[in-house]
Amino acid sequence: MTSSPNPELTQRPEWQALRAHAEAKGQRHLRELFAADPSRGERLTAEAVGLYMDFSKQRVDDETLHLLRQLAEACDLAGRTAAMFDGAKINVTEDRAVLHTALRAPAHAKVEVDGENVVPDVHAVLERMAAFADKVRSGAWLGHTGQRIRNVVNIGIGGSDLGPVMAYEALRHYSQRELTFRFVSNVDGIDFVEATHDLDPAETLFIVCSKTFTTLETLANAQAARRWCLAALEDEAAIARHFVAVSTNEKEVAKFGIDTANMFGFWDWVGGRYSMDSAIGLSTMLAIGPDGFSDLLAGFHAMDEHFRSAPLERNLPALMGLIGIWNTNFLGAETVAVLPYEQYLKRFPAYLQQLTMESNGKGVTLDGRRVDYATGAIYWGEPGTNGQHSFYQLIHQGTRLIPCDFIGVGRPLSALPLPDGSDQHDLLMANLIAQGEALAFGKTAEEVRAEGVAEALVPHKTFPGNRPSTTILAERLTPHVLGALVALYEHATFVQGVVWGIDSFDQWGVELGKVLAKRTAAELTASSDAELAHDSSTNALIRRYRQLRDG
Ligand code: F6P
Repeated sequence: MTSSPNPELTQRPEWQALRAHAEAKGQRHLRELFAADPSRGERLTAEAVGLYMDFSKQRVDDETLHLLRQLAEACDLAGRTAAMFDGAKINVTEDRAVLHTALRAPAHAKVEVDGENVVPDVHAVLERMAAFADKVRSGAWLGHTGQRIRNVVNIGIGGSDLGPVMAYEALRHYSQRELTFRFVSNVDGIDFVEATHDLDPAETLFIVCSKTFTTLETLANAQAARRWCLAALEDEAAIARHFVAVSTNEKEVAKFGIDTANMFGFWDWVGGRYSMDSAIGLSTMLAIGPDGFSDLLAGFHAMDEHFRSAPLERNLPALMGLIGIWNTNFLGAETVAVLPYEQYLKRFPAYLQQLTMESNGKGVTLDGRRVDYATGAIYWGEPGTNGQHSFYQLIHQGTRLIPCDFIGVGRPLSALPLPDGSDQHDLLMANLIAQGEALAFGKTAEEVRAEGVAEALVPHKTFPGNRPSTTILAERLTPHVLGALVALYEHATFVQGVVWGIDSFDQWGVELGKVLAKRTAAELTASSDAELAHDSSTNALIRRYRQLRDG
């Protein structure tokens, strides 16, 4: 294992300079910052790959940004970025390269892992995916009984589900509407039952997505799918027409009974949560077609190139990542609310939860020492305007500092005109813009009083403001824009992991629960008087569950 690039992060002069800056100036109000610099609303913005990012409503000034850049330099962000793009094994605890960027590299690019250029393999899989997608979309790929495939069910969990379902929802406007898409992830059998209850097995294709092909939930659901299919089609040979697999594990795919001719591969240098642009995106390609998928990859790639080459002052992922460090480590924020004002992005916050929290939810440095600073923030969110009528109250007037990311577009994919000649989309965007303004500037007690509000209600109707937000705008939601947006968050997550000196690419924290669940599953099915050796709460819950189940 290599030693940590951040031996003493909080002792670094750059960190201490930020701490001193935060103590001296961190509480300045955004009203004050805007008054002192009326042009900050245009200045503290950056634009690349079709995304306009306004971070002027973050509690930063030029000095903050300068100090953050110095911290990034001290943590060798440039060197670590080059190492990632060059295929160095920066996932040290798994001794793996981290090369999701190679998944969207153009065919002529060269990216080596252990001396082998991986780009030709990436493009070979993309071509196989495209040939398969064309067959299914055109109706040339037939089910076992000769019927056309009309339903596609993706079975997977975590990165083998969240990316596909988010991308499908995000790009639904571009999808082939004659095909129905469903996504099954939860080991709760209801997920499978409800996803398939109105489908005809003769017209249904299952994509079993699992990097390892050993994930309990996915294998249980894939077995259920197999039984569901065979119960109707009554012939083992049907599996070859109704099941394809996406995995890195050919042996387990074959063991499951899926013909490896129907398998689309990827590689151990693609992390699950960074895999929606690998063959894991097969459902996305089936929905939007190979050309649409190419646009998506091009959006990712354009953001990759921007990230690796733009100076930190104008680098969207670096700015986003570093401002997140400022909010988390110097202003004490614990969460980030992601608020898409674009209904098609309704699953984007859920997708980001795995990307950010599985990546940066770590408590030890690369060389295994406990950190003495906060790491990964809690990501959450809902599409606007729904959130406004639920949890925004707490963001506006609660006691916690909750930085928000607002995401919106200039042009909706479907217009919905209003009688006054405007479009419903204007209403939506008016809300996005108004929320950022209200959070930043609030409403003072004097302003409330000036409205004639009774004194007893003044504290209740006062908005403190000074609640930071970033606003990201694109012209329109396209596959290209989605790719750029996802890559923006991927790289911002990376930037934070570099500064914190943690391994953003492993996920050991999911292991303990998996092991205990296996043991508990055996105990739940054992006879009720079998010896239980857990703590008293766990023992009692097992007994109570058995009673409830068995009556
Ligand atoms: O939750 C742990 C995890 O390993 C994720 O990182 C991954 O995306 C998910 O499980 C699914 O894994 P697989 O694709 O191997 O089934």
